[in-house]
Amino acid sequence: MKITPSILNADFTNIATEISRISSADGVHIDVMDYHFVPNMTFGLPMVKAIRSATDAFLDIHLMIDDPDRWATSYAEAGAESVTFHVEACSAPVRLARELRAAGARASMALRPATPIEPYADMLGELDMVLIMTVEPGFGGQRFLDLTLPKIRRTRELVSRLGKDIWVQVDGGVSGETIERCVEAGADVFVAGSAVYSADNPDEMVRALRAQAEAATAR
Ligand code: DX5
Ligand code: ZN
Repeated sequence: MKITPSILNADFTNIATEISRISSADGVHIDVMDYHFVPNMTFGLPMVKAIRSATDAFLDIHLMIDDPDRWATSYAEAGAESVTFHVEACSAPVRLARELRAAGARASMALRPATPIEPYADMLGELDMVLIMTVEPGFGGQRFLDLTLPKIRRTRELVSRLGKDIWVQVDGGVSGETIERCVEAGADVFVAGSAVYSADNPDEMVRALRAQAEAATAR
């Protein structure tokens, strides 16, 4: 069970300080957007390199960009522990996953809400994590899409059948109101952006979300 807050809604002029405000988190989720794959733009490799030099935290890079086949591996080479590409934008997901692992990162594949998991069932063994988007990617602060819950469940079943330790991450609209549904469906890595960074005490929110998720797992 892991909580990886997104810094999308943090103060971009004080990123290092913002990251230090979530010390109980398991990692930092970094949303890279390019104005092409999604209608929004954040930052790219230079910023990720700057963050890498400012923190030892586990860096969970979420690439919402076109042509990840070309760009993703440089994030692994920059020292990110995990790199997620969107399968909708990728030409050769098996090759890219292998390149990411060869560059020393965990390889992760993301699916937009309407993208099914079944076509990728046979390649899940190439991955360390599957990210099921629970909103349309592009912006923080959107409402959680319950229609993604059956896919989370089916992804967990496919992963369990493989018998490998592949994480199932959810991202978008995850909060105290929705995290239990995600746990019950089988997610084990939780991205929360606005829920964490709109809290007066972000770290307290990380701990609260973890406690809630652990309680839901025990049930
Ligand atoms: C959305 C991003 C998310 C986003 C989550 O496209 O991938 O990581 O920051 O923010 P919240 O938790 O506010 O939905
Ligand atoms: Zn994200």
